Amino acid sequence: MQSSFPFIPESASTFAGDVDAVYFYISGVTVFFVTLISLVIIFFVIRYRRRNAFEIPRPIEGSTKLETLWSVIPLLIAMSIFVWGTKVYFTQYRPPQNAMEIYVVGKQWMWKFQHPTGQREINELHVPVGRRVKLIMTTEDTIHDLFVPAFRTKADVVPGKYTSIWFEATKPGTYHFFCAEYCGMNHSGMRGFVEVMEPAAFDNWLSGNANQVSPAAAGHTMFESLGCASCHGANSEGGRGPALIGVYGSNVVLSGGGTVRADESYLRESIINPQAKVVTGFGPIMPSFQGQVTEELLLALVAYIKSLSTAKPELPTAKPPATGTPQSANPVR
Ligand code: CUA
Repeated sequence: MQSSFPFIPESASTFAGDVDAVYFYISGVTVFFVTLISLVIIFFVIRYRRRNAFEIPRPIEGSTKLETLWSVIPLLIAMSIFVWGTKVYFTQYRPPQNAMEIYVVGKQWMWKFQHPTGQREINELHVPVGRRVKLIMTTEDTIHDLFVPAFRTKADVVPGKYTSIWFEATKPGTYHFFCAEYCGMNHSGMRGFVEVMEPAAFDNWLSGNANQVSPAAAGHTMFESLGCASCHGANSEGGRGPALIGVYGSNVVLSGGGTVRADESYLRESIINPQAKVVTGFGPIMPSFQGQVTEELLLALVAYIKSLSTAKPELPTAKPPATGTPQSANPVR
């Protein structure tokens, strides 16, 4: 589907064609039935018009055959839209495991992005072509919505939680993104560009500012300065609080019974509202850090905890790997 067709934006992600196909199918079905029904109405109006003032119409019996037919056919058409639409929706909104993760914070009225290596951008997002990119998003104030028409994907950013979208860009170029949720006076100005680059150019761009602090490293600094280590251990090995090594992605058993999967949202909630889901075997002693950490630093803390679990930690690739165990170099309290 090319942008030469004036009604659809350029398509530049792996699932853009699938989204367009569903839209064309639904539009096609709609146009077909609007035309068919209009023609039948016109035909009936002429064919069965009143021919003289005293005409009495012939009574009509119902037809089970006809009624079944006009119930079953629409059902099948509706189900085909449902099944196909669901399939495309799952592709769109289930981020793949091996995606490159970029953090997004919306605020009135700008979009802030941070790469795993630490580079920050505002109203601009550089990504490589042909790589899966997952955006982990939240907001500092009200609800916004990140919409990239060329990638056929969008999602709300909601106060107090994380939402995600993903895409794999198929061709280099510059693509608009917009805020798609009315959020106040400058809502219409809350927009920018995704810059899709060739992988080599992207790596070059990424290493351009090598002195950035990665979110995971910033999170580690926060972890120490907030005194988290006094309960979770200097190396997050645990103590009065649960161990954080390996917690991300695991199933956590809760003290009230039940389990929860330790994803980004769970980690965030456990920092802001620690009493909500206490890990079994531990008391509800952790204070809330609500109001003490901004959304960006929360994301950094979450990135740090994630880095304790992932095989390839989210540390800057541009920097040489640190020797020894810097985590243990500065135990707090
Ligand atoms: Cu942000 Cu509209």
